[in-house]
Formats: sequence, structure tokens, C-alpha cells
Amino acid sequence: MEKKHIGFDLTVLASEDELSVEERALLKEAEKARGKAYAPYSNFSVGAAVLMKNGEIVLGNNQENASYPSGLCAERVAVFQAGARFPDETIKAIAISASSKNYTVKKPAAPCGNCRQAIAEYEQRQNSPISILFRGEEGPIYKCGSISDLLPLGFDNSYLGNS
Ligand code: THU
Repeated sequence: MEKKHIGFDLTVLASEDELSVEERALLKEAEKARGKAYAPYSNFSVGAAVLMKNGEIVLGNNQENASYPSGLCAERVAVFQAGARFPDETIKAIAISASSKNYTVKKPAAPCGNCRQAIAEYEQRQNSPISILFRGEEGPIYKCGSISDLLPLGFDNSYLGNS
């Protein structure tokens, strides 16, 4: 038997002051997008801002539905829109911001498992890492250099036998 350790380095930033100018601007865009979320059922609003290599920023926010599973998370709204609008462009980074009407979100809001899977598809497609920044309404910002940090041993198209 062999045991393997799989881990990653998470960067913890105390506030936006520790971000680069580009990252700070991206997080601001995610916060603005969060303000336009449609989240009447959960009262939990998420905004996502995708930075493309060409400098374009593509936004998304969660879109809920009375039939709950029909809604979609902010991150997937954003990356799917980025894929639709700029299919040949590389995604450099994604910033995520979350807030609630019920309490102050102070813990960085990590992307859900489905969103990790969706982001991983783009990382594999473009063959370069996508850095992920995430935050609540206030408090620390978490940063990782690749979605594979958050989704180790992920399922990808190499299993499908057609690549
Ligand atoms: N949500 C996101 O937008 N992103 C995530 O990664 C986690 C959850 C949304 C989905 C739903 O509208 C609300 O937050 C509560 O789950």
C-alpha cells in the first residue's frame, strides 16, 4: 500500500489591499455583479467576474428559479458566457464574491463542486491555469493558482478515450 498526500498552497489575503491592482479591480466587478443576482429563494447572492487574456471581463451572478434545481450559480453563468462570447480566448482568473440578506458573510465563499467541475473543463481546454479569488462580503480573501487545487483528481475528457 502507498499513501499519497495531495495538497495545495492557499494564499490568504487579509484584505483587498494585498491584491494586485488587476485583481482588486476584478474583485470589485464581482461585487458589482453580486448586487444584480437574482436570489429571492436563498437570499444568498453571488457575483463572479472572469478575466480573459484579451482584458475583457465577463460577469455572472446566481440566477434562481422557483423550480430550485433549474437555477444556476454565478460562476457557471460567468464561465459559460465567457465560453460563448470568447471561445478562443484564455481565461486568466475568476473572482467570486458572496453576500446574504440573512447575515454578514465573513468567510470566503468557495465555488461549489459543480462550478469547480465546469471551471476545470475550461482550464483543460485552454491548457493553462485559471486563478481563483474568493471572498465573502468582508474578511479575508482566499486565492489559489488553479482550479485543480480545489478539485484534485477531477474527472476530465482523458477518461473518455477520444482525445
Ligand atoms: N451559489 C453560487 O452562485 N455559487 C456557488 O458556488 C455556491 C452557491 C448560489 C446558488 C444559489 O442560488 C445560492 O447560491 C444558494 O445556494
